[in-house]
Amino acid sequence: MEKTFLMVKPDGVQRQLIGEIVSRFERKGFQLVGAKLMQITPELAEEHYGEHKERPFFGALTSFITSGPVFAMVWQGENVIATARQMMGATNPKDAAPGTIRGDFGLTIDKNVIHGSDAPASAEREIGLFFQENELVEYTRQI
Ligand code: CMP
Repeated sequence: MEKTFLMVKPDGVQRQLIGEIVSRFERKGFQLVGAKLMQITPELAEEHYGEHKERPFFGALTSFITSGPVFAMVWQGENVIATARQMMGATNPKDAAPGTIRGDFGLTIDKNVIHGSDAPASAEREIGLFFQENELVEYTRQI
């Protein structure tokens, strides 16, 4: 079954949006198979956002993502990577449609509440960066 990596960023944790965000993915029907509240180290931040290393906002991005706890999650389900991206909305909250997470709660492109993997390869890479195999559960939905 397809899996994706989602993370409530420091602004989302500070604003007490973890429950709201988890609830949206649960109500959609996806399964939570791993989760932890954690503090990202500078090393992990640089690795996770490695593709943005040359971008002018890289320093601000890594310092923001390490500024407070994040809530890291692995979700599973049919087409979960693309559907979660739709539910998150556009990267810049000013372009994100109402009803999406960033459209409803995001303030600025830096403080955009949530990160989600954009493709199968990045999902696999990001899950591996944040979670050990024994931190993920396997269970079959009974209902
Ligand atoms: P995220 O999905 O976590 O991936 C990279 C992050 O960089 C993105 O969300 C934004 O929060 C942040 N960011 C800051 N400035 C920019 C920018 N100009 N373009 C794209 N992403 C940006």
